[in-house]
Amino acid sequence: MSDNATLEINGKTYEFPLITGTENEVAIDFKTLRTATGGVTTIDPGFKNTGSCQSAITFLDGEKGTLRYRGYDIEDLAEKANFLEVAYLLIFGELPTSEQLENFHADIKEQSFVDDDVKKILDSFPKSAHPMGVLSCLTSALTAFNPSTVNVESEEEMYNATVKIMGKFPVLVAWTMRKKTGLPLNYGDTSLGYVENIMKMMYEKPNEEYTQNNILLNALDKLLILHADHEQNCSTSTVRMVGSSHAGLYASLSAGISALWGPLHGGANQAVLEMLEDIKADGGDTAKYMAKAKDKSDNFRLMGFGHRVYRNFDPRAKIIKVAADEVLADLGVEDPVLDIAKGLSAEALSDPYFIDRKLYPNVDFYSGIIYRAMGIPVDMFTVMFALGRLPGWIAQWKEMRQRKEPIGRPRQVYIGENQREFKKILKR
Ligand code: ACO
Repeated sequence: MSDNATLEINGKTYEFPLITGTENEVAIDFKTLRTATGGVTTIDPGFKNTGSCQSAITFLDGEKGTLRYRGYDIEDLAEKANFLEVAYLLIFGELPTSEQLENFHADIKEQSFVDDDVKKILDSFPKSAHPMGVLSCLTSALTAFNPSTVNVESEEEMYNATVKIMGKFPVLVAWTMRKKTGLPLNYGDTSLGYVENIMKMMYEKPNEEYTQNNILLNALDKLLILHADHEQNCSTSTVRMVGSSHAGLYASLSAGISALWGPLHGGANQAVLEMLEDIKADGGDTAKYMAKAKDKSDNFRLMGFGHRVYRNFDPRAKIIKVAADEVLADLGVEDPVLDIAKGLSAEALSDPYFIDRKLYPNVDFYSGIIYRAMGIPVDMFTVMFALGRLPGWIAQWKEMRQRKEPIGRPRQVYIGENQREFKKILKR
């Protein structure tokens, strides 16, 4: 393949270098497009064809259904590693030794205390507030309680900022859930594993001794690993974009949480369960909803189906489907909503509309089912996603700053009025 791409505009040709990634992905480097052509730009709504950065963190091939963190297959990581190891891998680039992992965990535990005044902020929210709004706000509020900005040139400062947020974020997640469920706020138990402690913080009741359920613990660990990073998705791009203005890490994360909230992104896991509940309440007629999903005059979409980059099965969905089956079997859960989910998925997988458009169940189709079986309130589902995505966001923010990427500032093609004469108000 040539090293250049040739572009012809109005009979004039321009050469642009090609960049090839380590997995042979080819991109046209258009950095000099506007200068070379005297102002011509590109337009690509939704960035369907636009690479915003070069990144060494996550590789995915949507056609083949491949997902790797730092070169390791997601299937291997989900089966053989735990969430904290994967977080370390994403943030620091290599799998930790036992000693590195132990130190990382010890440093996180050291920082897992959230200023008691944050409780006052939480108190001011009504119980009905959506947990994603609460989490985004509390994450942003951490900036006020930890005012130092991170000098990204310093490995030590970046490390300290990382362990701080890895320690405090689970507390915010647990408090958000406890506010919702009316349980008193707690601080967890530093003698436990990272995810074990999160579960205890979420579920512990003041009048009962907490006992760990290992089936649920393994399922949650796996879910967090599967959600830990997914290259330049909407929330991660938001975190990088906000950070590119040199806004702080917590402010950038808070923006990422807001981006994740939407039902076309992380909010899909909540939307899936709500859709299944609606179908159940409407008599469980899956055929009716399949028809609605295919009807272009109807806004209804089959939530949990389709993905911007996976045009083959989402590899995470394959792993999580097995985990969901195990959890449901082990817990002996029988739930009509799950029967509807199975029915819809079977119908969609054999329907030409879905087959032709390569619409398969995505990770959120199954994650909601596990969270429901775990007794997590539906509007907390996306918060659980954020908990898993945290190390990915940190890794991407760090990479963006350390690569000294310029401020994110896309161009546009203006389609408004041309210059007009201003008329005073009485003459309009
Ligand atoms: N139900 C019915 N039709 C669908 C669905 C769906 N869930 N998803 C896509 N389509 C159809 C579109 O109508 C379109 O049809 P057309 O070609 O006849 O016009 C075609 O498939 C392509 O869809 P796009 O919207 O162009 O695909 P895009 O890549 O922009 O969107 C998205 C991807 C947002 C995920 C979409 O599939 C969707 O809305 N899915 C439901 C929401 C969801 O599950 N989101 C979670 C994604 S995973 C995550 O964020 C972790």
